[in-house]
Amino acid sequence: MFQNLNNQNNILGSNRASSLPPVNIITVQDASVKFDQVHALRNVELTIAKGEVVFVTGASGAGKTTLLRMLAGDITPTSGRCQHPFKRVEDFFVGRVFQDLRLMSELTCEANLNIAYDPELYDSRKAFEKDKAELCRVLGVSDRMSLKVKDANGGLQQKIAIIRTLLTKPDVLVADEPTSALDSENGKRLFEVLSYYNMKRGMTIIWATHDKELVKRFSGRILHLDGGRVVYSGHACFI
Ligand SMILES: Nc1ncnc2c1ncn2[C@@H]1O[C@H](COP(=O)(O)OP(=O)(O)OP(=O)(O)O)[C@@H](O)[C@H]1O
Ligand SMILES: [Mg+2]
Repeated sequence: MFQNLNNQNNILGSNRASSLPPVNIITVQDASVKFDQVHALRNVELTIAKGEVVFVTGASGAGKTTLLRMLAGDITPTSGRCQHPFKRVEDFFVGRVFQDLRLMSELTCEANLNIAYDPELYDSRKAFEKDKAELCRVLGVSDRMSLKVKDANGGLQQKIAIIRTLLTKPDVLVADEPTSALDSENGKRLFEVLSYYNMKRGMTIIWATHDKELVKRFSGRILHLDGGRVVYSGHACFI
């Protein structure tokens, strides 16, 4: 599954090259989100194409989580529009990794991953177990599967949350700061795994991060937020 993971030409931010015109899966027009008196997002305009990898950056409170929640369809804008033309469940499944992870703390890491099993997504339970074992191996967590989540450190919990989401085979992955508890090597490794899913399976990735090192390595698209506005949309090399 991950044979090419160590080939540096295949990883870190190369959005998939394609001769086909991009298909937009999310279109946002003049969207604002207000919570009481707080303008969390202001007049956002953007499109996200199928297979894109997009990093959402910005200071604390800039609106990253709110943008991700809106793009995932979890909140609707107070004004303006956020459209998902492929939102029918059978065409377009959004996998989410939340900032607060939402794992079952009393269950083991393994039991949390097993929740992701859906017989409609896998030819057999064996195929699911194989994917699970490979993800655990490449992310270096195989030997800690019997730990209860409440006894796992933050880095392990983040990896379990992301593996659980990947096992649901999402078309779009919306991940809110999934590397905040990881050191830079582990953050890079995680991004390599996600890049693999992007390149081999066409998974669109929308990833909020404070991780400047990761963004520096990335040659694709950055959305930078400030005070709820998208103040930059383009390649990392220009910021
Ligand atoms: N449910 C809510 N109710 C009220 N205010 C909210 C809510 N969610 C977000 N806000 C406010 O909206 C603004 C943007 O918040 P958001 O969580 O999107 O920022 P962020 O960039 O994700 O920050 P962080 O880096 O700390 O996670 C902040 O002022 C926040 O306090
Ligand atoms: Mg946030």
